[in-house]
This record gives sequence, C-alpha cells and structure tokens, in this order.
Amino acid sequence: MKWLRFCAAALACAAVANAQSLTGRWEARMYQADEGRKMVLALTQQGSTVTGYVLQPNTTGVAILEGKVAGNALTFAVERAGRGARGATTPPPPVRTSYSAVLQGDKLVMTVPAGGRGLLNPMEFARVSTAAPGPLPPPAPRISLTSYNPVPYNGLAKTPPMGWNSWNKFAGAVTDKDVRGMADAMAGNGMKAAGYIYVNIDDTWEADRDANGMIRTNSKFPDMKALSDYVHGKGLKLGIYSGPGPFTCAGYEASINHDTQDAKQYAAWGVDYLKYDWCSGGTVYDGASMTQQAAYAKMGEALLKSGRKIVFSLCQYGQNDVGSWGAKVGGNAWRTTGDIRDTWQSLVDIGFNQQVGREKFSGPGHWNDPDMLEIGNGGMTTTEYQTHMSLWCLLAAPLLAGNDLRSMKPEILEILTNKEAIAVNQDKLGKQAVRVSPPVPADQAADTSVKELHNATGGDLQVFSRPLADGGHAVGLFNLGAATAKVTAKWSDIGIKGSHKVRDLWTHADRGAFTGEFSADVPSHGVVMIKIAK
Ligand code: GLA
Repeated sequence: MKWLRFCAAALACAAVANAQSLTGRWEARMYQADEGRKMVLALTQQGSTVTGYVLQPNTTGVAILEGKVAGNALTFAVERAGRGARGATTPPPPVRTSYSAVLQGDKLVMTVPAGGRGLLNPMEFARVSTAAPGPLPPPAPRISLTSYNPVPYNGLAKTPPMGWNSWNKFAGAVTDKDVRGMADAMAGNGMKAAGYIYVNIDDTWEADRDANGMIRTNSKFPDMKALSDYVHGKGLKLGIYSGPGPFTCAGYEASINHDTQDAKQYAAWGVDYLKYDWCSGGTVYDGASMTQQAAYAKMGEALLKSGRKIVFSLCQYGQNDVGSWGAKVGGNAWRTTGDIRDTWQSLVDIGFNQQVGREKFSGPGHWNDPDMLEIGNGGMTTTEYQTHMSLWCLLAAPLLAGNDLRSMKPEILEILTNKEAIAVNQDKLGKQAVRVSPPVPADQAADTSVKELHNATGGDLQVFSRPLADGGHAVGLFNLGAATAKVTAKWSDIGIKGSHKVRDLWTHADRGAFTGEFSADVPSHGVVMIKIAK
C-alpha cells in the first residue's frame, strides 16, 4: 500500500517535471481558407496555473481567466464584449467562453466552442516564442461621434432585395469560383426569372491594404472586377461585405478610416450591394447609439458619392433600436437580430419571436432584415423551409438564398421560386405583415422604443396578415406546434368584411369564396399561405 502511494506520488512528480511549460507565445491559423488570420495565446505557466491573454484579429486582447494545466490538458475561459440584445441601448454584458486544449507533441490543439461559423476546429497552435509575454496591451481610447447629417435616400430597394449570399452555406470557404457558379445557377434555374438578382459575397474576401490604403482581395478572389463583369454578364448584380470597425466578424480587414476609399473601390469594381457589419465596432467605438449611427452614416454618404448605385444593408443585429434610424443613415435594410441558424428553433426565435412590432419601421427603400434564408441547407424539413419562405415573404424581408444553388433538390428550388409567395414579398405597397392573432398586446404595439417587445412569443397558432397594393391581403396561417392543428384567420382580425375569394399560394389553387373567416388544417411546423382578394 505504502509502495503504491509512493509510486503514485512519484508518477505525479514525474508528470509535472516532464510536462513542458506552456509559457510563451502560441499562434494558430483561424480559417481553413486563409493563412493570414491568426489567433494568439500569450501564456505564463506557474505550477498548474496559467495566466496571460488571447489575441484575435477582430478583438483587442482578452485576459485568460481560470487558466489551469492538468497533465497535458489546458483549460481556461475568456470574457468578450457581448453584441447586445436587440433594442438594447446600454452596453451588453460580457460573454464568457471556455476553451480546452491538449499538448500533442509540440502543438497545442484547442477545441473551439460551437458558434464560430467558418473557424477551424480544432485549432493547432505552434509556439513562436518561449519568452514570458508582457502585460495585456491596453485598449485604445474609444471613439465618440457626436453628430451626422441624414443621408438622402439612394432610390434603391423599392421592394425587398432578392438574391443569394455566401455566408450561411460557405462561411469562410467561399471563392471566386463558387460565386461564378452561383451566378450561373441563378441565371439558368429560374431564380433570376423569379426576381433573384444580387449575388453577394459575405465575409472573408478581404486581404490587406496597399501603400495607398486601398483594400486588396485575398487569393480566393484574384480579380474582383473580372468577377463583377462575369456576374453582370449574366444579367445579375454583385454584392460585397465590410464593416465600420477595424475588422470584420471573421477577423478580416474592415473599413474604419477608409470608408470613402472603400466605397470608391467597390464602385470601381462594379459592386452593387454592400452589407456593412458592426462586428469589431464595439472594440473601438464608445457604445453610444449616436456613435454607431454616425459610423454607418459615413459609409452611407460615401456610397452615395461613389458614383455607383449601391444598396446599403446594415448589420448590427438590431442594436440601438436600429429601425428608428436605419433609413436616416442611408440604409436600405437592417438586420434586426443575431445570426440565423439552420434549425427550427432559430427560425422560431428569429422569425416569429423577434419581428413583431417592427413593421412600423419597414417600407419601400428601407426594410427590416430578419437575416438570410437557410432554405435548402439541410437542417430543417421541407415543411419548415416552406414556413421560412412564407414568413419572410409576409415580413417583406430581403430574400437572400443561403444554400448551394448548384446542387439543390427540386423541392427546394420550388420553394425559393414560388412566384405567388414572391409576389407578396415584392408587393409594391411594401407593408410588412402584422401578427394579427394572437394580437400583439396594445401596450407593446404602442411602444416605439422596441425594448422587450420582440421577445413576445405568440404561442403555437399564429396568423400574420399584410395588405397588398391591389386591395387584397396576404395571410399566413402558421402552426408552430407538434401536431396538425386547425388555424383560423378571422376577417375581423384582418380588417375586412363580407365575402372574399381565397387562393392558396402553395398549392396554387383557388379555394372559393369565404365569409367572416377562413380555416385550414395546418401540419406541425407548417403554413397555409393564402391571398384574400379585395
Ligand atoms: C456576422 C453576421 C453574419 C456574417 C458573419 C461574417 O456574424 O451577422 O451574417 O456576415 O458576421 O463573419
């Protein structure tokens, strides 16, 4: 027994003695498709305790918390600035992330927690120095912007923009070849004919700046002008992505202090659409709504003066009550929430729970954007994707397909190109649907500051209705529940009287004339979408 105890103690001592100290600077490549962006661990190990900080290109350094070594395993946590809830006007609480890594030979192999779309996982850190790192670099003073001139309307997006965006399917892996492939597919498969026009490159096309400060593309996009010529040659338009901070969300070069220059470069390339993502903005700007507005207005103004008509799409996840000022900074659309995922839960959270009450901000030229479509990405059923499409059409949301258009199943193409649903989305009146049943509580409906309103769930059976330019109404009867259920749209809720013809926009069949109400059995997670004639 004694002997056993001695052995265990000796083995433990040997493990500690043999364990390589982790002290030093470690670097790992963050994205498969990019050599440039590195995550850095600056570590000091004392016994089993590790201190130091993590550096990422899109953040200032964050201190390592609770760093511990046990055998070959390192665990630690960091706290980063949160993005903030939709509508929040105070700085959000920090978000804590836990990491674990294992020393394998001379590499530290770290598992990245879920959520970092496009990140390499695991990441392999190589030691670039064994010197104990200095202290965490202090953050730069925050930028405050105190005013801006309202940006005049650019005349674009009179109906919600339609097209494709690379992020949901490709994230950091998107290439020039993929974008050309999407343009080919879109032009040939009926999508262009159905109204899809923009082919939008999201994050990860950027490299660095040249000696004059002009942004350069990375090797995935060797010639942006040639790509735009190609896309234009198909009768389509090209979109691109940046942000008002120093780095994009994936850690690439963004547009701070270069807005005018970047807008000119986009125009020279022949870009027709810009998604402008806050991302690292929180690390350099002071967090005030005015500062964020003015940062967006700079690019709004720069695009107007760029010499090319460029749709301006804001992406700051609905912070600072963006609907109330998005159009004033030149925005043609603004994201209202965090990122959508290809799951039913995400669709419910983003599409149903966080959009009601925002309709007052939306209209021709300036739209609420509940994020891009996940239709066809495989995480939901065909019924759920039909619900996704119906809701986005009713909400007058931008319709940006997010799947691989080169290889989709016929039923997915059919959903994306349902002309009767698209006609609702593109209706000239531009009125976003209101949830009429269950009604949004009056105190919330009257609340222009948005606040918690968007988290109001409407239960399993929900009816959304929007008036159309021809005097009719488009109505969605949704069943979020687990079993088929009867859903009823009452004329009194919709604001009509008498007998009206009803057409089913998914079966493309006239259902006859109805008085007072229309009911349908709706499958679990499904929809019956109708047009009620004038
Ligand atoms: C943010 C946006 C996404 C996408 C990524 C790119 O998360 O909300 O839509 O653009 O950045 O890094």
